[in-house]
Order: sequence, then C-alpha cells, then structure tokens
Amino acid sequence: MNSFQSPNRPNSISESEGLPGWTYFSPGLFDLELEVLFYSHWQFVCHVNEIEHPGEFVSYDIGAERGFVIRDSANRIHAFHNLCRHRGSRVVSGKRGQCNKVLVCPFHGWTYNLDGTLRGIARRDTFSEADYSNLGLKRIEFEIWNGLVFIRFKPGKQASIAEIMTRHAREIQPYGLDCMVASPKGRITDRIQANWKAVRDVDNEGYHVPQAHPALNDLYGKDYQDETMEGETNRSVGRFTPGPRKHWSVRNYLNILPENTNLPESHRNIWLYIGIFPNLVLGFYPDCVIFYQEIPKTPTLTLQRGGIFHHKNESREMKLARYLSGRIDRETSKEDSMLSIWVSEATKSSAYDKVIFSDLEKGVPSYHNLLREKLPVTKLDVEPATPQLQDLNDRMLSAVT
Ligand code: FES
Ligand SMILES: [Fe+2]
Repeated sequence: MNSFQSPNRPNSISESEGLPGWTYFSPGLFDLELEVLFYSHWQFVCHVNEIEHPGEFVSYDIGAERGFVIRDSANRIHAFHNLCRHRGSRVVSGKRGQCNKVLVCPFHGWTYNLDGTLRGIARRDTFSEADYSNLGLKRIEFEIWNGLVFIRFKPGKQASIAEIMTRHAREIQPYGLDCMVASPKGRITDRIQANWKAVRDVDNEGYHVPQAHPALNDLYGKDYQDETMEGETNRSVGRFTPGPRKHWSVRNYLNILPENTNLPESHRNIWLYIGIFPNLVLGFYPDCVIFYQEIPKTPTLTLQRGGIFHHKNESREMKLARYLSGRIDRETSKEDSMLSIWVSEATKSSAYDKVIFSDLEKGVPSYHNLLREKLPVTKLDVEPATPQLQDLNDRMLSAVT
C-alpha cells in the first residue's frame, strides 16, 4: 500500500493500454509526429515580458521549422519564420537577443523592418528589376494567453489556447501570470537521450513519486493526484503534507515560503500542474509559475526546455522560496531524465512487452488515447513500412470520421 490517495479505477480496457514499443523509435512515425502534432499544435515560445523592448526577440525551433517572436517599434508583437527570403539564412541567431531598428541577415545583408517587411537589398542593382517589395519575412500564426506567447507553424484543428484553457481560467487567474517576468537563471535546456513520448510518459503519472523523487515525496507525496486528460489538458495537484521533513530543500522551502495572500487558501499550499497537449506543462506554485516542454530532436533524443516566471516585486522570502522550489525541481528533473532514458531504451529490447498501468498511472494511457485519436497508426502492434505510414494514418483517420 503506498501513500497516495486512490483515484477511481479506469473505466475502459483501452485506457489501460500503452503504446507499442516501435512507436518510441520509429523514424517514420517521428516525422509524422512532427507534422501532425508539433507543427500544427500550439508551441509555447516565451512570456511577453521577455520581449519587453522593441527589437527583442526569442527564437523557437522544432523539427524542420525555425521561428521567432519579436516586438516592433510600435510595441506590436510578431511571429516570423526565421528564414531570409533571399537564400534562407537565419535572420536572427541565438535563442534570444535584441536588434536595433532593423533585422540584418548575416549572410548577404538584406534588411527587414521589425514588422517583417523587407527594408533593403544589398547591391540591389545586381538583381533583376522585378518588384521584391512583397518579400517580407513569412508570418507564423501566434496567440498570447495570460502573457504567454504561443506559435503554430502550420494550420491545425487544435482550438485556441484560450479555449483549451477555459476550464482552468478561474483557478489560475489569481497567480497573475500575465504580469510576471522570467527569471534568467531559471532557464534550462536539458538533452535527454530518449524518445519524447517516454519523457512525457514519465511525467504523466505520479505513481513513481514515492520511489523515485525523495524531495517531491517529502513535499507532497502523501497527497498527490493526477487527473486524466480532459479535452487537450490534464491537471495534477500535490498538496503539502504536514509533518517533519527529511529533505534540506523541502524543509527550508516550507519554513521560508510566505503566505501568498493573492491566492485562495486552497492554493497556498499546493503545487498545481496543468499539461497542454502535446508537450507543455505549466506549474503553478505559491512562489512562482514554471514551465517545461519537450522538443523532439530525433526519435531517441529530446530537448527539455524549462523556465520560471515570478512577480517583479516579490519579497526577499518569496525569492528565497523560489530558489528552493527551483532546487527541488532540478533534482526531480534529473531523476525523471534517467527514468525516461531507461524506459525509452527498453522499448527496443527483445524483452519489451506490453506495459502494465496501475490506477495511479492512468494519466499515461489517457494521454496515449489522445495520441491514438490523432495518430491512429500508433494502435498497430507492428511498425508499418515508412513510405506507407502517413497514407495509412490518413486512411485510419478517415475511417473513424
Ligand atoms: S540569405 Fe539573407 S541576405 Fe542572403
Ligand atoms: Fe517524475
């Protein structure tokens, strides 16, 4: 008997089924996932306050797509493909930065205004007299929700972030996320030698907390609950449990954490997590808001990008508490990375068989169900040949609708 509260039992057999092993290392499926999931679902880029001044930008690359968001001199935000219209060089380099009044392509020096319009062509006289004025940077669809900027590289059926998050809107409003700023020290990018779904699977259940995460277990191990996917989000709550603490960071975090009176009493002693399909988790803590997201690089390599947002005028105690919650999270994410690598490796083993889920892991099959809905080809026990994969997926999709 472990110390978790027992949630309701899964209500259908399919909810207990995991994905077959091949889906964790198939190059063909990986390409299809980029197309079906990552290019056409919202991707979180940054907080608007990270591009507070004209010319400030943050870039976001995934698969073959390269994008960036930037603030122009009229204070408007834009999202563009990071691709010069001359010969395709990146127009901005690095994860973030600031340009002056103009974007200068580092290859041959074409220039663009901050609103993306083409400003100048180096040695214009050496090109034909054709009208190039429409060769501005290509735009990317974007949405700002509670101060967070999301982009979508290709059109997709996923509803707007505001719609997806409707059921959580009241709960997260008191955190004041839209007014927060990003902590430069809180930015992390970890390389995990694992398929992105293995990373997500580990994160989608809390059954492993008592065994694998001493700090988290000390913080809220006795009262942690995962809910299954509803629409395109899932929600989990860890409530700080009373009693003596063994873990240094947890003990000090709870001693130092001031009462956050902006939050209702029910939320002053919890870590609340909200996952947005397919690859983002927001964590709402009394001291800050955090995020982490998986960026697939290859079928067996994932970047995990994370960050911390906080109020600019936080008290000294709140800042210290935020430092300590960050320590707990860094420790936890190292532990999770190891587990993700192991389960990802396992899917290639000749001994790999169907996985078994407890009631406390229902977040995993519930996430898989949504994946199976969008990528029905993942229901197949045997990997289809790569050239047929997309076609087969399309046919399976149209058979359902
Ligand atoms: S590729 Fe940008 S100026 Fe040539
Ligand atoms: Fe974990």
